[in-house]
Amino acid sequence: MYRTHTCGELRLSDAGKQVTLAGWVQKVRKMGGMSFIDLRDRYGITQLVIEDTASKELNEKAEKLGREFVIQATGTVSERSSKNSRIPTGDIEIKLSEITVLNEALTPPFTIEDDTDGGDDLRMKYRYLDLRRNAVRKNLELRHKMAFEVRNYLDKQGFLEVETPILVNSTPEGARDFVVPSRMNPGQFYALPQSPQTLKQLLMVSGFDKYFQIVKCFRDEDLRADRQPEFTQIDCEMSFVEQEDVINTFEGMAKHLFKTIRGIEINEAFPRITWQDAMKYYGSDKPDIRFGMKFVELMDIMKGHGFPVFDSAAYVGGICATGTANYTRKQLDQLTEFVKRPQIGAKGLVYARVEADGNVKSSVDKFYTQEVLQQMKEAFAAQPGDLILILSGDDAMKTRKQLCELRLEMGSRLGLRDKDTFAPLWVIDFPLFEWNEEDGRYYAMHHPFTSPNPEDIPLLDTDPGKVRANAYDMVINGVEVGGGSIRIHDSKLQNKMFQLLGFTEESANARFGFLMNAFKYGAPPHGGLAYGLDRWVSLFAGLDSIRDCIAFPKNNAGRDVMLDAPSIIDDSQMEELFLKSTYVAKENN
Ligand code: AMO
Repeated sequence: MYRTHTCGELRLSDAGKQVTLAGWVQKVRKMGGMSFIDLRDRYGITQLVIEDTASKELNEKAEKLGREFVIQATGTVSERSSKNSRIPTGDIEIKLSEITVLNEALTPPFTIEDDTDGGDDLRMKYRYLDLRRNAVRKNLELRHKMAFEVRNYLDKQGFLEVETPILVNSTPEGARDFVVPSRMNPGQFYALPQSPQTLKQLLMVSGFDKYFQIVKCFRDEDLRADRQPEFTQIDCEMSFVEQEDVINTFEGMAKHLFKTIRGIEINEAFPRITWQDAMKYYGSDKPDIRFGMKFVELMDIMKGHGFPVFDSAAYVGGICATGTANYTRKQLDQLTEFVKRPQIGAKGLVYARVEADGNVKSSVDKFYTQEVLQQMKEAFAAQPGDLILILSGDDAMKTRKQLCELRLEMGSRLGLRDKDTFAPLWVIDFPLFEWNEEDGRYYAMHHPFTSPNPEDIPLLDTDPGKVRANAYDMVINGVEVGGGSIRIHDSKLQNKMFQLLGFTEESANARFGFLMNAFKYGAPPHGGLAYGLDRWVSLFAGLDSIRDCIAFPKNNAGRDVMLDAPSIIDDSQMEELFLKSTYVAKENN
């Protein structure tokens, strides 16, 4: 037996026991004639001590130990004279009688501590060492616990976990595909699933009724803090349901996770907001409602008074930041610089302070009478001490998005975005289509299988842009943690959808013929949702990036720097797959 206990297990009540531990050497310290070794494993750290009376052989062995050596140590559990209340094993130490070095280790390229000295790149290159650190390991433990509770909840609700293939054809989630060449089918490629969307719909046709899968999805898209090229969905589908049923089931799951993982009991229903209102009041389809600061539109009040910027704008609107009228010139300049950053793109920022006497003092006073400024103040219900920040622009949607960034920035500055506060909500009534100016055509806002709101079906012929979808997203603290819809189960309506999305009958058949065919054999009404597991875990762990809850993530360039993937494959493999790289050809030229 390698060990009798783990490094996180022993307590004062174990004093006197003869034990054997195994783990990694975190630290060795010499004090006088004694040596102290911190031994670490997944479960914790235990202090080992070699007393000054120990044998010469033991002392010599201890002297040779380096950081991260793997050792086995035997001794007696004893009460410590100077206790360490910061660790659970801090009341005891092991007085050693024997050490065996199981494996030596090179000095690690960074310290295996909570506050490591290793930079991002180095830690990613040696990810297996990074994973020895408490902080990272804890995230993976949380991930395991969450996946376990998901299975627990869904199993109790009668869901069946079914695996779907990874080597498939293109699935329509709107990103680029990762493709895999087929040796047995020369010149042909599989695509990795962007989601199991069509397959789970087929399972409904098969009568599975309630399906789920914790499943890897692959999307070749630009990476951000909350996006990885391969990520994990909790993918679900149900038959004979309406929107309300799906929302209830998955709100239930969210509440189950809040309770079992974070100990937060939520009894009331999550708020719901229409997409229209989310855009109007927060400038985003994933509003962070941990704080208010809703947008107020000011077109009626502020246009037509001779201030050319507002007079020519399609949108004028602002937010009211409570208690910040005392912002200095410098702070206001910083905010102006913030909104003018290229990523945000506003032309400028207008501000107005509500002074102690209730008067409003603005950066555009010369165009507005106090009477108009007071009307503006009323529109915000602003109080003395408040600061009103206004943006305008000739594209209402763009300006709202800029104001959204400003609102989030002010929320952060005012400490209103605490990571331990959670504000979940549903965003509903998304538009079914999104018009793309460049291509001059509609795209599905969600995916082409999303059903229109039944009341809006007549609009498909007259004004498709106005059709609302039977779709819903769950958003927590400004993060889209999941989304889904009620699907179209009628092949006529589905064909109409394809038509509106610019598919010819032929091209729709080529891509989705299998699904359309299946629908001819008795498709039940169905709908579902997929949660992003990585996003849920990073929210609950308070992480800034989902990378930190993934064992072996990709960097921002989509590379695994530890495996050095992707990489060039050798010529024989290329030949076998009937491939020729034009990239290599260019390099050779
Ligand atoms: P959607 O594309 O909204 O829907 O994805 C569902 C959820 O998956 C997560 N997610 C991601 N997480 C990390 N990195 C990514 N690149 C990434 N992309 C998406 C998000 C998102 O809400 N088939 C539909 C679901 C359905 O209709 O049932 C789908 O995939 O949390």
